[in-house]
Amino acid sequence: MKNYITTPIYYVNGEAHIGHAYTTFIADTIARHSRLKGNETFFLTGTDEHGQKIEESAKKAGKETQAFADEISKTFKDLWDGFDISYDKFIRTTDIDHKRGVQKAFMKMYDNGDIYKGNYEGHYCISCETFFPETQLIDGEFCPDCGKPTNIVKEESYFFKLSEYEDKLLKYYEDNQDFILPKSRRNEVINFVKGGLHDLSITRTTFEWGVKLPESMNDDKHVMYVWLDALLNYITALGYGKDEENMDFWPANIHMVGKDILRFHAIYWPAFLMSLGLPLPKHIAAHGWWTRDGEKMSKSKGNVVLPQVVADAYGLENLRYFMLREVPFGQDGDFSQRAFIDRINSDLSNDLGNLLNRIIGMSGKYSEFKIDSVDVIKYHSKELDAMASVIDNLEPFLDDLRTHKYLEELWKLFSIGNKAIEEHAPWVKIKEDKKDEALATVALIANILAKASIMLNCIMPNTTKTISEALHFEINTSSYQKLILDKKLLDVFIIEKVPPLFPRVEGPLMDEAPEANKEEVPLKKMETKKESTVEEDNLITIDQFFETSLRIGTILEAEVVPKSKKLYKLSVDIGEKEPRQIVAGIREFYEVAELVNTQVCVVSNLKPAKLMGLLSEGMLLAAKDEDGLSLMRPEHKRKAGSSVG
Ligand code: MSP
Repeated sequence: MKNYITTPIYYVNGEAHIGHAYTTFIADTIARHSRLKGNETFFLTGTDEHGQKIEESAKKAGKETQAFADEISKTFKDLWDGFDISYDKFIRTTDIDHKRGVQKAFMKMYDNGDIYKGNYEGHYCISCETFFPETQLIDGEFCPDCGKPTNIVKEESYFFKLSEYEDKLLKYYEDNQDFILPKSRRNEVINFVKGGLHDLSITRTTFEWGVKLPESMNDDKHVMYVWLDALLNYITALGYGKDEENMDFWPANIHMVGKDILRFHAIYWPAFLMSLGLPLPKHIAAHGWWTRDGEKMSKSKGNVVLPQVVADAYGLENLRYFMLREVPFGQDGDFSQRAFIDRINSDLSNDLGNLLNRIIGMSGKYSEFKIDSVDVIKYHSKELDAMASVIDNLEPFLDDLRTHKYLEELWKLFSIGNKAIEEHAPWVKIKEDKKDEALATVALIANILAKASIMLNCIMPNTTKTISEALHFEINTSSYQKLILDKKLLDVFIIEKVPPLFPRVEGPLMDEAPEANKEEVPLKKMETKKESTVEEDNLITIDQFFETSLRIGTILEAEVVPKSKKLYKLSVDIGEKEPRQIVAGIREFYEVAELVNTQVCVVSNLKPAKLMGLLSEGMLLAAKDEDGLSLMRPEHKRKAGSSVG
């Protein structure tokens, strides 16, 4: 089977951060697993180098645009090379073959009658390289996607007849239910299309940094719209418009993208392809965004996490593991050093690393580093059945891109192994002169490690290679066939000592111990001195903190505030003579019965305020995210009025 997997092509207006690395890691994982299964696989990545945004970034940097693009494109390529990303081609939209392919595609769409010349007037966001109708702007001016100001652009333009593709697109989504992954994002796209598609302006005349129109159009003041140019990379990389050398990989199996660019891939791109008479990709998979401490990463905030810095500090494959394990595909994730280190110490060091160490130790002690699997079935049929059922369930998770579930399931193999060691205690069996049984347990563990390594190879290629060298077997399509599909055991293992794979990471962290600077790993290489002073300025002293009086309160009564959907009037005992009246906007999240006689945390020295005409003499602490709101409550009941801090 042929399998074509792509990442988005990255804009060359800044360095790669962990968000970019995440897209690339998932795509690389899928490509690697596809190869392991014996599929002919083509994995594409590259850089998106045209458009006004790049032209302006180059200007700001005082560089010639092509030189600027060359420089940044190289930083992406070097990063992926250093990260062992297994791409088959790194495309640049400034490549001559790509530009020719784009012109060919333009001509074909034009000849089909899908492109016409007209005039455009609209609001353009340079940062998103997108036009927005006035109705979508925030406060009539700001971009609905990134919040930056838009400019009014009035110019002659060629248009693509996107409006004519509305019905065809809707039918395609209907007939191909898993075209958009995760499925939860389908409706967003469908609703957008149902809301009506405008014809798309696909050329610009106000700047020059783009692919020129084909010569035969005889219209050299226009350059192509950067998204038309960029999306076409997925076929020009296969030789479209040139020798078509690899066009037999088309249609792509998966275009991996971030949720912010789903619309371009799930609406514009299929419409362009329909116009070109080419089949559509099988899946557009949209992952969520990585934030840093809950905030979007941006250079101006100085909170950009650089993948190279993290990889240098904690190990590249630990980072891959963490990112794919921590966040369910499609959801946003926060990058926290604490969570990362917990994963290294518990999943990698404790569960996997220890198992390997134990087997190296035991095989050395009991059988001179040579183990065979003859007695495994006799003593461990229960574990073998459990392993088989884990493995049977595993692959569909990866097919659905649910990498966190895939890894969670995979880790069950290590639990089976660790439990078997505890239950069978080979060191006791040796003393009881039951060497066969002891060695059977050691061989069981070796087989668990071998099978798990094969399935973990796509996520941690080098680590699993080390494990396979320590156990003396190879990870390849035939071992995948034998150990995973045919569920066989490896007959013999010759064990070699290797240093511990995942040394535990100890010590205080930037996230939680600002005073322990020596141990911190500065993840923000781009942080400037000025920015760190600003952070200092934001810190408060302990005395300032205690200026806020926080108390435990017991809610005595709760009443709905008439004419308000959000408010409750509460009577709260905070240890004073009289209960306080507090008006709180929590009605959407709590029933009266969930409040009365429960405890909350109250800010008790706030100036009283009036809400809907009612006096409110305090505020409840609560945490809110997109899934709802939770009141902060003491873990165990405390006296009303107890201070918090
Ligand atoms: N050049 C376009 C893509 C064209 S594809 C034909 C582009 N480039 S980008 O550099 O801005 O973004 C590339 C990818 O990185 C997108 O998939 C985007 O979603 C992803 N990410 C950028 N910031 C991100 C996070 N903070 N977190 C996760 N991924 C994010 O868009």
